[in-house]
Amino acid sequence: MSETSVAEVGVDTRPWWYGTFGYQVYLRSFADSNGDGIGDLAGIRGRLDYLVDLCVDFVWITPFYPSPMADWGYDVADYCEVDPRFGTLDDFEALVAAAHRRGLRIIIDLVPNHSSDAHPWFADALTGPDSEHRDYYIWADPGPDGGPPNNWVGYFGGPAWTLDPASGQYYMHLFLPEQPDLNWRNPKVLEEFDRILRFWLDRGVDGFRIDVAGALVKDDLLRSNPQVGPWDPAAGRFEQWLAFEHLHDVFQPESHEVFRRWRAICDEYGAYLLGETYHREPQGLADLVPGDGMHGGFWFEPMHIAWDVDELRRALVGPVELLGERLLWASGSHDHERSPSRFGGGDEGRGRALALNVLFACLPGVPILYQGEELGLVDGRVPPESMLDPVDNGRDGCRTPMPWEPGPGGGFTTGEAWLHSDPRSECETALAQVGDPDSWHSRYTDLLTVRRALPDLFDEPVVWTDGDHGPVISYRRGPVGVAANTSFDRHQVEVPAGSSVVYATPGVEFAGAGQLVLTAHDAVIWAAPS
Ligand code: GLC
Ligand code: CA
Repeated sequence: MSETSVAEVGVDTRPWWYGTFGYQVYLRSFADSNGDGIGDLAGIRGRLDYLVDLCVDFVWITPFYPSPMADWGYDVADYCEVDPRFGTLDDFEALVAAAHRRGLRIIIDLVPNHSSDAHPWFADALTGPDSEHRDYYIWADPGPDGGPPNNWVGYFGGPAWTLDPASGQYYMHLFLPEQPDLNWRNPKVLEEFDRILRFWLDRGVDGFRIDVAGALVKDDLLRSNPQVGPWDPAAGRFEQWLAFEHLHDVFQPESHEVFRRWRAICDEYGAYLLGETYHREPQGLADLVPGDGMHGGFWFEPMHIAWDVDELRRALVGPVELLGERLLWASGSHDHERSPSRFGGGDEGRGRALALNVLFACLPGVPILYQGEELGLVDGRVPPESMLDPVDNGRDGCRTPMPWEPGPGGGFTTGEAWLHSDPRSECETALAQVGDPDSWHSRYTDLLTVRRALPDLFDEPVVWTDGDHGPVISYRRGPVGVAANTSFDRHQVEVPAGSSVVYATPGVEFAGAGQLVLTAHDAVIWAAPS
């Protein structure tokens, strides 16, 4: 497909991302082209055909900017460059061009909540309160007791403030001290990012995933949060975070001004603006993604649930009506345990994760697979002495290298992978699975192929048809129906006479006209006769 034909897909009045399936590439661990053990941009380019054959429509790539890697690239030292470990700007442009030739779109990760402490803006800010870039960051005098200015805690634990001994002031950081938060109340920061967005849009990117999108603007008075439980700086990071009601640090409505501005820029280019919108309530998520702000926001509940029918229903039904096509669905990411592990491990966990993706497939919104999900991967095992993530209960297990082939390096690298993990078994590799009709890879490829071929469902409301609240979750959307059996027992599902099954996991059986039988973790998509 030529670059022009990619643009033409959008001639339709619907945004190009409606009805698509995305794929998240965790860059460091996807494909290493030069044997240094670190995944890179040329590595992705070499695997584009794999992604095309999987039938994904766009790829979201995690940060590739120059970075000291304190948080593995989510600490950006230059927003308009490529870290030499990942390649060059030319490699980036070559990747975009090669993707577009194949009809694949590229979404990049923008990290605006904080920069790296190695960013020249912060280096200048540290030279003193009168420096040009001081107000690019959030500074405050010590509190009355000489300690931090307020009680905010970082999402990775500990106080959200670090003292700069030279000036006697504290700077704020929602994450590591190496990730100082930018001051989104400063119009100069807004202007800098307008330029950054255009820099990448002019290089052909098709959209941005906005990191920590809910938290850009902070309370102008830097008020302390109400404390709702004991805070122990030695406790786990989530426990520390939950000791406070986050009234003043995150989810400030003023962030919408930023997104309205970016939306206008993205709309000029037909680019997709989607947020890492970490709100656990549907209404809270809807507030973060108003119609004139970001085009879409991730709904994270499916990454938190256990395999329990009530939890599943709650995680699926809640946001649909409020957000519709603004939703992004995912069952895993580089920040969370892989869903097959979370859902019990082994083929049971894999089957459950697939069933969840079948449920996502026909709902309004855009589902995104996390790299390796199509292989049914459970978390990799990283020996304790090899763990590299800076946070407690590290995220290394979901970040281990993609198993392309059996053998040392797993086809990921010809050298030593940056993150050491136990070798994957042969049946987990792409080489073993691609083309085998009984593999997880084939089940996912079929699902994505079916989804792409389904008729336009955008104006069809979702009708949940599992009124008895049993173990089978099901819905209809226009002529299409979806059902998944969350239990181990056999359950019958009735479909209108003459319906055809367009997708089914291996255990689904026909039991005569209009009757399907679903065994453990089976899922099905059917279409009523037209
Ligand atoms: C987001 C990223 C995560 C990172 C954090 C701080 O949550 O997904 O990996 O650590 O932001 O930038
Ligand atoms: Ca490399």
